[in-house]
Amino acid sequence: MPTSRCVAVFILVFFTAGATTDYDSYSDFIEEDYTPQVDYKDPNWCRSPQLTNGEVTCRSPQGGAHRGMLGTLCEMTCDRGYRLLGRRSIQCLANRLWSGTAYCRRIRCHVLPLIPQGRYTCTHGFFVDSRCDFTCSPGYRIEGEHSRTCQHGGSWSGVQPVCSDTDPPKIKCPPSRLKVADPGKLTAKVSWDPPAATDTADKFLNVVLVDQAPGTEFKEGLHVIRYKVYDQARNRAACKFFVRVEVRRCLELPPPLHGYLSCSSDGNNYGAACEYLCDGGYERRGTSSRVCQFNRSWSGSPAECVPMEFKFSVKTASALLDQFYEKRRLLIMSAPNISDPDYQLQNIMIQKSDCGLDLRHVTVIELLGSPPRETGRIKENLLQSEVIEGLRQAYRISRSYFSMVLLDELGVDRERFIVPVSSEELFSYIDSFVLEEEERERLEVHRDFCD
Ligand SMILES: *[C@@H]1O[C@H](CO)[C@@H](O)[C@H](O)[C@H]1NC(C)=O
Ligand SMILES: *[C@@H]1O[C@H](CO)[C@@H](O)[C@H](O)[C@H]1NC(C)=O
Repeated sequence: MPTSRCVAVFILVFFTAGATTDYDSYSDFIEEDYTPQVDYKDPNWCRSPQLTNGEVTCRSPQGGAHRGMLGTLCEMTCDRGYRLLGRRSIQCLANRLWSGTAYCRRIRCHVLPLIPQGRYTCTHGFFVDSRCDFTCSPGYRIEGEHSRTCQHGGSWSGVQPVCSDTDPPKIKCPPSRLKVADPGKLTAKVSWDPPAATDTADKFLNVVLVDQAPGTEFKEGLHVIRYKVYDQARNRAACKFFVRVEVRRCLELPPPLHGYLSCSSDGNNYGAACEYLCDGGYERRGTSSRVCQFNRSWSGSPAECVPMEFKFSVKTASALLDQFYEKRRLLIMSAPNISDPDYQLQNIMIQKSDCGLDLRHVTVIELLGSPPRETGRIKENLLQSEVIEGLRQAYRISRSYFSMVLLDELGVDRERFIVPVSSEELFSYIDSFVLEEEERERLEVHRDFCD
């Protein structure tokens, strides 16, 4: 077959011009007569290479767009977002197969972790070029980048952002209030509902009271009440309101002439009561006490202290005693006669003690002698003989020796002296055992009054 031989040589020459195979190898090829019949011109010697999601760029030994000729070299490249697995370049071999295989696998980034109090949405899942945008729950703000992108190499751009609570909580204090001090007090109990705090992020909030708590007794004046609140992220809010306590006062009451006032509480504050009291020898006429009212005026009208008036010409001891009941104490002094030494000594010792006796509301009754020449007197006022007799019997006072009986304001026999006592002793006894607490305090104040 000389013609076909000629053609073969022609092809060989053509091939040599454009490929690496040299003449010697061709001569080997010729010698191996049993090898498959290679066809350098067959455009489909190898099956046209396919690469899903990629591109195959081939260079045929004879040029042109042939992708399956023997010796064709193909470069495999994957589309963006895909990674080549297998051979990067393959060649069409004489056995009609390619020298290797390859395929493109889609590149995935790792699953993005969730962030606390946040979420994200991605444009294309976790594949290359997908952008995931982060958002935070209400009350939280993004710190860091707002989005991450799956990069070609399979890693995410940037770093995970965090959602942080930057919104301060909200707190509203109750309105300020004015309270009038309770009657008889200089303080007022003021209560309120503690403010409620809200926060977009937190359910549990720590509300801190800085000053006095509701329900405490507030002193007169202006008080600031402050509350603070912190959320879990230590964002802070505060509020305050005022509590004003007013003590309503009446004008101070003037004390009565020949008397004084005994007032409760602070003397002239709302609810304070003032009692009218009279000096010894005087008695009250009018209201016993007045109260400072809410409208800053005193109840009732002023009382007076008027000199005590007694009727000494009464017929019975009880008629006499009744006049002193709850008003005066009585010191009944009795002696056999006016020249009795004990009586005389006693008179010397309590001479000039009228003031001290009056201060202690004590009236002295003298009983002297025996019937028919018996006398009874209060200062210069003479008593009837029935009255003298009545007193002696009621308090078992003997005519035969010196004695003194001290009666309290209720006419009760409190002490008996059978020897003369000094006025100091007498007063000390009265002060310690007979006076009421209030009288004792007042006496303390006026101790020097009689000097
Ligand atoms: C104060 O209030 C009392 C009753 O609570 C009333 O009797 C009195 O008239 C009032 N005084 C004044 C000055 O308003
Ligand atoms: C007075 O009484 C005393 C006894 O206490 C008696 O000794 C004296 O004689 C009396 N004097 C007169 C004047 O009665």
